Amino acid sequence: MIKLFHVYKTFDDRTVLDDVSLQVEKGNICCIVGPNGAGKSTLLKMMFCQEQADRGQVMINSQNLTRVHRREVPSVRRRMGFVFEDLQLMGRKSVLENITLALTIAGTSKKRGQHNMDRVLTTLELGSRKHEQTSELSAGEQQRVCIARAVVSDPLVLLADEPTASLDATLTAAVFDLFRGMSARGTTVVIATQKQDVADQFPQHRLVLNQGRVVNAINP
Ligand SMILES: Nc1ncnc2c1ncn2[C@@H]1O[C@H](COP(=O)(O)OP(=O)(O)O)[C@@H](O)[C@H]1O
Ligand SMILES: [Mg+2]
Repeated sequence: MIKLFHVYKTFDDRTVLDDVSLQVEKGNICCIVGPNGAGKSTLLKMMFCQEQADRGQVMINSQNLTRVHRREVPSVRRRMGFVFEDLQLMGRKSVLENITLALTIAGTSKKRGQHNMDRVLTTLELGSRKHEQTSELSAGEQQRVCIARAVVSDPLVLLADEPTASLDATLTAAVFDLFRGMSARGTTVVIATQKQDVADQFPQHRLVLNQGRVVNAINP
């Protein structure tokens, strides 16, 4: 479960998040929607201990991230998957190596890891590319590797920042089917997007941000 309680954040005296609250129950999917610069990525980064709130609380699975010590951060992240807006792949490593590292960090058993790997590579149509260096891949393929890495360990929480920005409609649908399957198995999912059509796919829970403020919400 994810809970944000009256979160504020400023960068250089500029307010980027202004009293944002949100609650996502275990196994639900929530979309954070808003234009460029609305504060979506900053909000996701807070859930991943990559940014700190100036005020307010960020709780993930009853752990208060505002009180987490730096040395505890890796263990918090071990149970999370993050689809980075800027991908953050190891460009000189292969698709398989990038994804396998995520399984190693999460401590997933070999058998389950292999099963998940095969399933994810097939769903994301990466099977034929698995031995390629990721720097050799197209933008869309790289984005799918980033998604595969985030989901392969079946994390408790999946945070996805503009996860389908480089994907066509067919692959976008495949990715969201993957996310729905994970949510059905208990993963809590938060997607940040500036695309209204993406948000429309997940109508149950939504937070609409503009310039750091909540301007609209559905079951937030
Ligand atoms: N590390 C940072 N330092 C200074 N300003 C930042 C930093 N990160 C984000 N911002 C600013 O915060 C605002 C919100 O950014 P962001 O969360 O990336 O928005 P979104 O993901 O909705 O496009 C932007 O104006 C951005 O320039
Ligand atoms: Mg962003």
